[in-house]
Amino acid sequence: MIRLDQLSKRYGALQALDAVSLEVPAGCLYGLLGPNGAGKTTCLRILCTLLSPDSGEVSIAGINALNDPRAAREQLGYVAQEVAIDKILTGRELLQLQASLYHLDPAAALHRIDELTELLGMAEWLDRRCGTYSGGMRRRLDLACGLLHSPAVLVLDEPTVGLDIESRAALWQVLQELRDGGTTVLLSSHYLEEVDALADRLAILDGGKVIAEGTPDGLKQELGGDRVTLRVKEFATPKEAQAAQGVLQRLDGVRQVVINRAQGHAINLVVEGGGPALLDRLRQQLDEAAVPVFSLAQSRPSLDDVYLQATGRTLMDAELASVSNRDPKAEKKQAMR
Ligand SMILES: Nc1ncnc2c1ncn2[C@@H]1O[C@H](COP(=O)(O)OP(=O)(O)OP(=O)(O)O)[C@@H](O)[C@H]1O
Ligand SMILES: [Mg+2]
Repeated sequence: MIRLDQLSKRYGALQALDAVSLEVPAGCLYGLLGPNGAGKTTCLRILCTLLSPDSGEVSIAGINALNDPRAAREQLGYVAQEVAIDKILTGRELLQLQASLYHLDPAAALHRIDELTELLGMAEWLDRRCGTYSGGMRRRLDLACGLLHSPAVLVLDEPTVGLDIESRAALWQVLQELRDGGTTVLLSSHYLEEVDALADRLAILDGGKVIAEGTPDGLKQELGGDRVTLRVKEFATPKEAQAAQGVLQRLDGVRQVVINRAQGHAINLVVEGGGPALLDRLRQQLDEAAVPVFSLAQSRPSLDDVYLQATGRTLMDAELASVSNRDPKAEKKQAMR
């Protein structure tokens, strides 16, 4: 339903997209996962014909979107990352205005607005002015705008940012219902758990390149090896942490050690052939080496491990790095970690 072929885009000296190719099958809920600045918005804007690529091809439902953007747009609903909603209008007025921009027949538009009001649970507040809406209400109204003309493909740029847990769950459910009803849904996100839980397939974008693509389970299985998260009681000095890392690196069965500073005193280990015996052995060896263990837990690889494997850093670290590139205060914070 969506095919991107070797898309590239530069902003001056910055290569925002570098030969990105993706295929999204019809009826798929597809996740585009990546840290800040990875190129997600650029990619989605090109796909929705709002931005021209330097090179590459875009096809939507078999339509060449670069040659025939108008026909491609009829197939597309786009919910942007940041939407400026007119605060004076009510939600209903905004939808009516949008419907007239889409040239929907007025009777059909009224019917469609009623349908969407029901689907998105907007009845209670749709006749209030938009200026009084919460973030979750605004997000649902954005979604309604994108869905007004019943597009075959719905594209959403970070739709759940800033939503509370309940609103996020409600939005997830709507997206799943749309997918089950046959709509192809493509959403970008920098939340690993979101893409893991929601997407049938995903691509991880990093520095404008696709670094991994597949189903969430398939990608995790490809990695192999189990993960052990070790939490330690406070280290008195950074030296102690380094000493512990040295001990861990020498333990039998440990393939990789990553001190995860973003999560307090957690250390992530990649281990071969885990199981309770390995945990017992680790515990004993750590005890002998006087590493102050708080807990040891074993888990299957996560999407963050997929990201770590491909880039050598966690998604969280990538986010912090991209923030610190823009903000000297955050940089200071990063240096203090
Ligand atoms: N109009 C522009 N002019 C110059 N650089 C831009 C422009 N738009 C985006 N960029 C840069 O291109 C890169 C990709 O940006 P993009 O907005 O596509 O990333 P993103 O993955 O959507 O990030 P976020 O998660 O923060 O929304 C970033 O380095 C960004 O600073
Ligand atoms: Mg973006």
